Amino acid sequence: RWSQSERSVIADLWSKINVEEIGPQSLARVLIVYPWTQRYFGKFGNLNSVAAILGNPLVSAHGIVVLNSLDLAVKNLDSIKTTYSNLSELHCEILNVDPDNFRLFADCLTIVVATKFGADFSPEIQATWQKFLAVVVAALSSRYF
Ligand code: HEM
Repeated sequence: RWSQSERSVIADLWSKINVEEIGPQSLARVLIVYPWTQRYFGKFGNLNSVAAILGNPLVSAHGIVVLNSLDLAVKNLDSIKTTYSNLSELHCEILNVDPDNFRLFADCLTIVVATKFGADFSPEIQATWQKFLAVVVAALSSRYF
């Protein structure tokens, strides 16, 4: 399913992504741009303003957790669905997260990555990256149906 060039594009881009920077920015962005996603993070405390979200240490910490979990997909490109089976079940049955939010998060992540890498994030690289995230989103959604 993945060509050799797609594999190297994903591995190369991922190696340049600083999880501790991109993770917090991406999760904060989804909470700001799609405020209904805040409902799942009630225990994270104050999310009442853009400044509160950006400065919330629990948001940052969880952003890092989510991005670290993407490392699993990068390392298991040929078995993303089984890799995320338990995580999909968790988000569906325990957390009751609407799976459409996975796509919204993926889009915010892509925007943060594009902002970070500028012209180096070429249309070809973006296309491969978004294909990768689409497979991740489908895998996370797989236990819903
Ligand atoms: C927890 C991954 C998207 C809501 C988690 C955990 C991981 C994870 C690894 C920790 C699981 C554990 O503690 O065992 C991901 C990935 C995502 C994603 C890879 C997308 C690429 C989302 C989205 C939402 C969400 C879009 C909601 C809008 C939650 C919540 C928790 C959680 C509420 C529990 C947080 C806590 O109790 O500290 N997720 N997640 N996730 N996720 Fe996600």
